[in-house]
Amino acid sequence: MKNLILFSVLLLFFFGFGQNSKLSSEHYQNKRKTLREQLPENSVAVLFSAPIRNRANDVDYVYHQDPHFFYLTGWHQPHSVLMIYKNLQKDTEGLYYEKIYVPERDQYMEMWNGKRYGLNQIKQLGFERVAERVDFKTDTQNLEQFDTVLLFEFKNDIRNQTMYVLKEGTRYKVNDPNDLFDLKTTFREAINFPNDFNRLRHEAYQTILQADSDNLDDVRNIVQSILARDSLLMEDEIIKDFLREPAQNFYVEAQRKTAFALRDHNFDMELLPAILADMREVKSKNEIDLLKKAVAISVVGQIEVMKAMHPGMSEREVQGIHEFVYRKYGAADEGYPSIVGAGENGCVLHYIENEEEHITNQLVLMDLGAEFYGYTADVTRTIPANGIFSPEQKALYQIVYDSQEAAIRAAQVGSSFRELYQLSYDIVARGLIDLGIIAESSEARKYYPHGLSHHIGLDVHDPGNYGDLKANMVITIEPGIYIPENSTCDPKWWNIGIRIEDDILITAEGTENLSAGVPRDWKGIEKLMQQESVLKDFILPEIETLVQ
Ligand code: GLY
Ligand code: MN
Ligand code: MN
Repeated sequence: MKNLILFSVLLLFFFGFGQNSKLSSEHYQNKRKTLREQLPENSVAVLFSAPIRNRANDVDYVYHQDPHFFYLTGWHQPHSVLMIYKNLQKDTEGLYYEKIYVPERDQYMEMWNGKRYGLNQIKQLGFERVAERVDFKTDTQNLEQFDTVLLFEFKNDIRNQTMYVLKEGTRYKVNDPNDLFDLKTTFREAINFPNDFNRLRHEAYQTILQADSDNLDDVRNIVQSILARDSLLMEDEIIKDFLREPAQNFYVEAQRKTAFALRDHNFDMELLPAILADMREVKSKNEIDLLKKAVAISVVGQIEVMKAMHPGMSEREVQGIHEFVYRKYGAADEGYPSIVGAGENGCVLHYIENEEEHITNQLVLMDLGAEFYGYTADVTRTIPANGIFSPEQKALYQIVYDSQEAAIRAAQVGSSFRELYQLSYDIVARGLIDLGIIAESSEARKYYPHGLSHHIGLDVHDPGNYGDLKANMVITIEPGIYIPENSTCDPKWWNIGIRIEDDILITAEGTENLSAGVPRDWKGIEKLMQQESVLKDFILPEIETLVQ
C-alpha cells in the first residue's frame, strides 16, 4: 500500500485539460477561413498550443490553452500545432487548406492525465486534416517553399518534458520525443530561425528594405522609432549605415546587406498578431452570448458578496464566495487572478495576495471575473465593509461613478478609446481639484494611474487595435481613484482605493451594460447590502476546536 501511494504521488501531474469548447465546429471553421482569406499569397500560418507550466517539482499548473489557438480551433489540449495554408495543399486524400497535429492516443498516460481524442473524433470537430504530432517533422521539411511563414513570437517558458511508458508491467520515465519543446525545435530549424534573433532588429531590417529615394526620410524616421524601443540596436552596423548622415548612398549599401541578412528567412512575426487583433476585437453573436453568461455569473458573485459582507471577514473568504458562485454555474476558472483588497490593499492595482485576515470598516475593492467556456468577464465593485460609505469614501466614490457614467454614455460606434479615457480623466481631475486633493489636472495621473478600457474575450485583456469603437466589441469601462498612505493630501483621504468596472457591449444602436445587474451607485450598493445573505447560517466550527 505504501508503495502504491508513493507511486501515485510521484506521478501526480496536474493538468486537467481545461474547459472544452461550447461553440460549433462551423464557428471555428469560419474563423480559420477568415484568417486564411487575409494571408498573403503562398504563405502558411503556424500556431502552437500553450506550454504546460510547472508549479513545483512534478506538479504542473492546470492547463490553459493559448487563446489565439483556442480562438481558431476550440481545441483545449496541449502539444498541438495548427497549420493554415493560403493555397490548397495536396496529399493522397486530396486537397486541403489546414492541418492540426495532436498527441497520439496513449492508454497509460491517459490513465494518469485524462482522455485524449482519436484522430477520427478530432476530425469531427471540423478540421480538414488531423495528424499525430510526430508527423509535424516530416510536414515542415518544405517550409522554405513558402514566400511567408507567419508565426507568433516563441514563448520562452517551454520545457522539454518527460513521459512514462509501461513495458511488461514496469514503468519507465522517458523523454517525450514530440512534446511542444520538440515541435518548436523542429519548426525553428525548418524556418532557419536564428538563435540570436531580435524581433526589433528584424523589424528594422524589413523596414529598411522598404526604402527608396522618394520615401527615404519617412523610412528613416520609422527606423529611428524602432531604435527608441531598443537602444542597443544603435550598434548594429546595417542600421548605422542606413541612418548615416548625409544619407548619400549608404542606404543602398544597407539595403544590400539587409537583403543578404534576411536571405534565409521567410518568416514574419508581425502579420499574424495583426490579423488576429483585427478579428478578435469584434465578437460574433455566439461569442457575445458566452461573454454575457460569464458576466452574468460574475454579477451574481458580486451580489451575493454584497449581501454577505461584514467587518471581520477575510479577503480570502470574500474571494471564495465569488469563486464558489462561479463554480456553481459551471465556470471552469477565473479569467485572471481575483483581486480582493481592503483599505490600503485596494490601492495596489494588481493586488492578488488577498491575505488580509480581518477586514475592518474599510472599502473593499473586488475585481473578479468568471471564465465561462474560455470567455471571461471583468467586473469590479468597491463597497464599504460595514454597508455604509463614510463621507470621504462617498465623495471619492461619486467622482469615480460620474467619470464612469460619462464614459459609458459617450461610448458608441465611432468614438475612440482615447477620447473616452480623456473624458473620464478630466472628470476625475476636476473632482480631485474640487476636494482639494490636487491643485492641477496633470496631478490626477498620480491617483488615476491606469487606462479606462480594454477589450474582453478569451483574454481578459483581449487583443485589438484600440482605435475607434465598432459594433459588437465588448469592452470594460473602469475608472479608479487610489490614494495610498503618505500621499501629499489630507490624511483623511489615505487608504481609499476605488474602481468601478463594467463590461459594455457596443451595439449599432448604442451600448448595453452587461454587468448592470449589480448596483454601482452608492445608494444602490448600500440598499443591497442590507439584504440578508443565504450564507448567514453557514457557520463552520472554529478551527481550534478541531485540532488538539
Ligand atoms: N482585472 C484586470 C483589469 O481590470 O484590467
Ligand atoms: Mn478588472
Ligand atoms: Mn479590466
